Amino acid sequence: MDKSVRAIDECLSVRGGRLFIEDCDTVGLAERFGTPVFVISEDQLRRNMRRYLKAFSDRWREGEVNILPAIKANWLLALRRILTQEGAGCDVYSAGELHSALQSGIDPRLVSVNGGGKSREHLTNCIRAGVRITVDDIDELELIEHAARDAGGKASIRLRLRPDFPNLWQPTGFANELVPIDIGFQVYKNGIPTEHVVSMGRKALASEHIDLVGVHIHLGRHHYSLTVWEELIRRYVELITELKTQWGGWEPSEIDIGGGIPSPRDPFGKIIGSTADNLLFAGLFAGMYALKALGEKRRYEIISRLMGLILGRKGKKARIPSIEEYAERITATLKREMSRCGLNERGVRLQIEPGRSMYGNTGIHLSRVLKTKYQTRPIAWNWVLLDTTYFFMAGGVFENNLHPFIVANRADEKPCKLADIVGRSCYADRMIPEVRIPDVKAGDIFAVLETGAYQEVSASNFNAMPRPATVLVTGDQAEIIKRAETQEEVFARDIVPERLLKDGGKPAAQSV
Ligand SMILES: Cc1ncc(COP(=O)(O)O)c(C=O)c1O
Repeated sequence: MDKSVRAIDECLSVRGGRLFIEDCDTVGLAERFGTPVFVISEDQLRRNMRRYLKAFSDRWREGEVNILPAIKANWLLALRRILTQEGAGCDVYSAGELHSALQSGIDPRLVSVNGGGKSREHLTNCIRAGVRITVDDIDELELIEHAARDAGGKASIRLRLRPDFPNLWQPTGFANELVPIDIGFQVYKNGIPTEHVVSMGRKALASEHIDLVGVHIHLGRHHYSLTVWEELIRRYVELITELKTQWGGWEPSEIDIGGGIPSPRDPFGKIIGSTADNLLFAGLFAGMYALKALGEKRRYEIISRLMGLILGRKGKKARIPSIEEYAERITATLKREMSRCGLNERGVRLQIEPGRSMYGNTGIHLSRVLKTKYQTRPIAWNWVLLDTTYFFMAGGVFENNLHPFIVANRADEKPCKLADIVGRSCYADRMIPEVRIPDVKAGDIFAVLETGAYQEVSASNFNAMPRPATVLVTGDQAEIIKRAETQEEVFARDIVPERLLKDGGKPAAQSV
């Protein structure tokens, strides 16, 4: 590689002080397509999919491996086409997501329709389309039987299980509070409680309209540690073995482990900080109170210095295992535990549903700096106001994401101050709080990284802001795959009743 090129990862690099995605200059993209804008690398999406397939297929030789990326992470039609071309299946949660998957020409046997509260109409459509139904509710079997009769076909189903994990006391990433994985898993709504699954399985096996082909679990984003993943798989296999005994020797031909594998630079849950950070903040709080004795001026001076030291060091610095390391631990544990429990692994299809680790690092969000603002008293602080908002990345707000970022036109400049990167909604809109930045000016281009999963699909219109476009890049080519919303479209679903339009909208005196 050219010496003037500094690689950041597979799709991002710095060339001549500017951030590139593949061979596209991001500053050029911002100028050509306007800001804010989501940018996705087609090449990275293809690389991620190929890497997943290879990592698991190399290590699971007992049967086929299917990668079923979770479409909820990004359902843009163009992206789904790319994944279908690469041989991916799909995890879908709703009728809308099913539509996106099917229109891409996907093999329906590789579609897992998940989710609670499925309607009879939705189930009938699933059976007609020939997709797998992953059963979540206690009464769903009955509905499926009716739907299979309506559709004149047989339903291929899997049961979504809910093992317990008494050995997993590590804090779960699913909760803001300190909650062990065991409890976090139990209170999460999805899946069939074990007390009901035994009778449901018997019914499914007895039904002429249903083919029970496998089992499902969503291991989820509780923890990145391979030791945790090993225990998750171990207990899953134990529950399958228990069900085998209850169901007269039935064994799954499909084992789906769901998603939850993090992406290498995963922003998920980072804003909460580590336990050490939380203790530090508790100490700072107590210290601030104690400093009252010194008088306001002195107290603020000390707090300013402490903030410089303590803030800006947020984010857990854990090393995320690679896809290959996950594949190794998951497949090795499955083989070992299945053999220990007397389950037959020969011919078993292994299915994985990556969401953020498939899409996350394919995307960046570009926005322009509108203003910078600072104060020196009573405490020193800086704000960088962007022309975007965290409402366009609502998924990240829900997930306490701390996104990495690069100032695209100052990518080689050293950070020199601490600032809050804020969005333009009327909320505090602290998109990236308390971070060290270079000497940023109005007009600079900010690239928020790791926005390929759960961000664009969760954008909302708060403050009546039209949602941004998405651009797809491959090599040095770039094109729009979702246009920006117009201001008119923000109000397109509004209906003002006729009576409010009369008399210039003034209320009639007698009706008030
Ligand atoms: C059933 C199922 N599969 C896969 C995923 C993807 O999870 P992740 O993005 O953590 O990989 C989810 C996410 O919620 C899910 O509910």
